[in-house]
Amino acid sequence: MCGIVGILGRKPVSGQLVEALKRLEYRGYDSAGVATVENGELGRRRAEGKLQNLEARLADEPLMGRIGIGHTRWATHGAPTETNAHPHMTKRVSVVHNGIIENFNQLGSELKSAGVELSTDTDTELIAHMVTRELDAGHDPAVAVQHALRRLEGAFAVAFIFKGHDNLMIAARQGSPLAIGFGDGEMYLGSDAIALAPFTDTITYLEDGDWAVMTREGVAIRDREGMAVERPVQKSVASALMVDKGNHRHFMAKEIHEQPEVVGHTLAHFIDFANERVHIPDLSIDFASLNRISISACGTAYYAGLIAKYWFEKLARLPVEIDVASEFRYREIPMERNGLALFISQSGETADTLAALRYCREQGQNIASIVNVRESSIARDSDLVLPTLAGPEIGVASTKAFTCQLAVLACLAIAAGRARGTLSEETEVELVGALSEVPRHMSAILREVGAYDALAHTLAKAGDVLYLGRGVNYPVALEGALKLKEISYIHAEGYAAGELKHGPIALIDEAVPVVVVAPRDGMFEKIVSNLQEAAARGGQIVFLSDAEESAAGCDLMTAIKLPAVHTFTAPLVYALPMQLIAYHTAVFMGTDVDQPRNLAKSVTVE
Ligand code: G6P
Repeated sequence: MCGIVGILGRKPVSGQLVEALKRLEYRGYDSAGVATVENGELGRRRAEGKLQNLEARLADEPLMGRIGIGHTRWATHGAPTETNAHPHMTKRVSVVHNGIIENFNQLGSELKSAGVELSTDTDTELIAHMVTRELDAGHDPAVAVQHALRRLEGAFAVAFIFKGHDNLMIAARQGSPLAIGFGDGEMYLGSDAIALAPFTDTITYLEDGDWAVMTREGVAIRDREGMAVERPVQKSVASALMVDKGNHRHFMAKEIHEQPEVVGHTLAHFIDFANERVHIPDLSIDFASLNRISISACGTAYYAGLIAKYWFEKLARLPVEIDVASEFRYREIPMERNGLALFISQSGETADTLAALRYCREQGQNIASIVNVRESSIARDSDLVLPTLAGPEIGVASTKAFTCQLAVLACLAIAAGRARGTLSEETEVELVGALSEVPRHMSAILREVGAYDALAHTLAKAGDVLYLGRGVNYPVALEGALKLKEISYIHAEGYAAGELKHGPIALIDEAVPVVVVAPRDGMFEKIVSNLQEAAARGGQIVFLSDAEESAAGCDLMTAIKLPAVHTFTAPLVYALPMQLIAYHTAVFMGTDVDQPRNLAKSVTVE
């Protein structure tokens, strides 16, 4: 979602602002802009669409200020037009903003009745006018911002520059993250450390409620109450993990191919391979005393949770309550105190997941999270953080973060089973052995991608695609359908194969590909019956299995032979064909694979 950058530099900064914005592109956006202060005057350039449009504007009409702010906007209030693009500006102040101002209507009416003319549909413009009115009332910029901030409700991050001030930037965080970077006589601001990696690795994260007054000489941070505070200065690892595509055409391809390695790293963090046992560092959960676990997440992370439900219930006999975070947070779920609430999030910033976490905190739950970004809000608000070691994930459609989440969840389910006495040592050794084979199976799949290329030509013509799975592979089918619709824009639905007869079978004809996730497990015969029902109605079957084609007992459009895997680890391995089908189809169709239309990587608004 929206990305913010700011630079107090020694040379003109607009080029560097755009470079920093490029590193936030992965979050998803539909317009962009920068503003600087030059000879005391505010100036801005904005453009719809991709950053190259903004670069073209800047080439025609350069901005030469040595202090500036920049923004990539993912539209919430108002269409993605140039008028609505940030920075927003009055004659005295320019502002960029990430998040939503919830009391937008009330503030807008107040400003209008005070005679302020609003020229955009955005909530951000209101902030610019509110600060301007405070400045007009004679307050200095820091006081003006502080007064305006007190009136804003919602989750947001903002940054301001001011007419007549070429060594002053003010930033504030209320929910959405902000990192401040320290340079040599220069200072930087960014929505995350990745944006700042080319400039500095010395970073301070603002806490919720903080606001910071920045000059080239340093930063003074105050908390919500206005008290001066110190926040730890850290060395960011973002620069060490420089984000580039390597030899791949897209970040998504690179991230798919990284999976054997990053899943291996993640497993190694939670498994003592020498003793063939799971070992979760600092595990503070008393699984034996739990009556249930509540899991909440969004998108792909939610599907990881759905798979984990099967694992926890089977291996640890521990019931799991699971819901998408946007529902969970409002359901007013009764919760026994001292229960365990588990949150899964790549970014650690998803607004709904964070809100669900806070609800669970109020309900007296112990909070554990599985996150990929250790400095994230969800990680910081958790009692126990179980990291995925996937490295930065840039492609909007999650791939390696998903399989790493599954790796952590698989280990956690084993640990729970052991603690509850429902899993024998012998079974634990067997399951750990199966997990240790996963990177090898993933590599085998990634060596043979030709079949996906051929399949892409057919899927690209489809209007609808069905994905079927059963048991623990039902959420894998859901994830397959999500991947395809996210990046190819083909309508796809995942279904529990047993539900086929309760609706989706009505859709099936010769034009509908049906992707069947069918590892040879205890459910194999049942899913084969389901695929035959689909084939009998003309459905074009794509059979993903370790079984021979003949085992399907009907004509297949495509059979992709996969390695024989343990039932327990099938979701980790079968996730890869799901990703490869979507990726090759999208590439064939020529869509924007890494930044699909309308989607955002880090969904920081509700
Ligand atoms: C967005 C992304 C998905 C992701 C979901 C949850 O929709 O496009 O790939 O699964 O958000 O994000 P999180 O960072 O919480 O895992």
